[in-house]
Amino acid sequence: MHQPLGERLFQQASEFLTKFHAETETDGLSDRLVVVRDEINATGTYIHSDAELLHGVRLAWRNSNRCIGRLFWKSLTVRDKRSITDPGQVARALEEHLSWATNEGRIRPCITVFPPMGVNGKVPVRIWNKQLIRYAGQMQPDGTCVGDPAQVSFTEQCKQRGWKGEGSAFDILPWLISGADGIPKMYEFPRSLVLEVRLSHPDHPWFDGLGLRWHAVPFISDMVLEIGGILYPAAPFNGWYMSTEIGARNLGDASRYDLLPVIAQQMGLDIKAKGVLWKDRALVVLNEAVIYSFDRDGAMLTDHHAASDQFLKFIRNEENAGRDVMADWAWIVPPMASSSTGVFHRGFDNEVRTPNFFYNHDAWIPRQSTKGCPFHVDSLHSGH
Ligand code: ARG
Repeated sequence: MHQPLGERLFQQASEFLTKFHAETETDGLSDRLVVVRDEINATGTYIHSDAELLHGVRLAWRNSNRCIGRLFWKSLTVRDKRSITDPGQVARALEEHLSWATNEGRIRPCITVFPPMGVNGKVPVRIWNKQLIRYAGQMQPDGTCVGDPAQVSFTEQCKQRGWKGEGSAFDILPWLISGADGIPKMYEFPRSLVLEVRLSHPDHPWFDGLGLRWHAVPFISDMVLEIGGILYPAAPFNGWYMSTEIGARNLGDASRYDLLPVIAQQMGLDIKAKGVLWKDRALVVLNEAVIYSFDRDGAMLTDHHAASDQFLKFIRNEENAGRDVMADWAWIVPPMASSSTGVFHRGFDNEVRTPNFFYNHDAWIPRQSTKGCPFHVDSLHSGH
């Protein structure tokens, strides 16, 4: 069914504004709807008030079906940078975000919101990095990868623009930020803004020798925030880590740092023998190291058992508030000790609600057809 664009936008706006006014017990919904309708008629779009933006980003977190950490959705802080369009100023705002959110390890969930997409589909600001802090991945002539294989394609973009790095397994990537012209500028940001945790194990002295580390805070920077029909293509956000994200997935996945065989061998396990469960045991040691080291350095982190309990509490809170929780089971259930966590033993509805965060195509790859994927921002444009 086709509707004039403004009609559709007004519908999305009024759905969001109705929710905003109800949940925050704010008066004046009908006046606000009149203003927004006039604004859309005159300009083709509308501008969120500060309070709408704040509640909107919190709802986007609350609606993130794949996130187990949603108990804390009300603590999300917004940094409003909707008036910034110059990539250099964007970089400075990102530096402030890093520093404020990291808070020497007492991590504060935070989102910086840059200008929304224009009526003509123009993107005023885009951050090309998938996360603000990531380690480069560089393919070697022998086909192996130094660093994070998940970053090879982005690393290539940086190298094309003159970035070199030291060639270690943990070289922090620079930022690529484009303004309205779509041409990225490269920024190296101060190392001092990056809190990293060197990994050691309380019982295994050899663990130090592996030289492993990880950055303390995940800052997702390539998703599109949608609130009431308005798209924000640059809205980087952070929470804190769950230990398995680092210890099971980033360092353990065969397609990432692939360290389980290395650790198992250090443990003296026979990785050829059957029934040794060497992967399982290596996973435990790696995760113990992550938890121990973050703790030692005062960097906030949750383990998967606590996170599962917190998520179940989130569901109870939501139900008490008269809302049902949508979730993606395969993402919520932790990648180790799954059946020992509460979230394993139940199902979830996985309907996608807005406000929310959506995937975007990589900025350096022409738009792929992702029609039909409800988590992908392109599906927002396909007019259903
Ligand atoms: N899994 C991603 C990573 O390892 C981070 C995703 C967001 N995680 C979070 N705890 N907020 O970097």
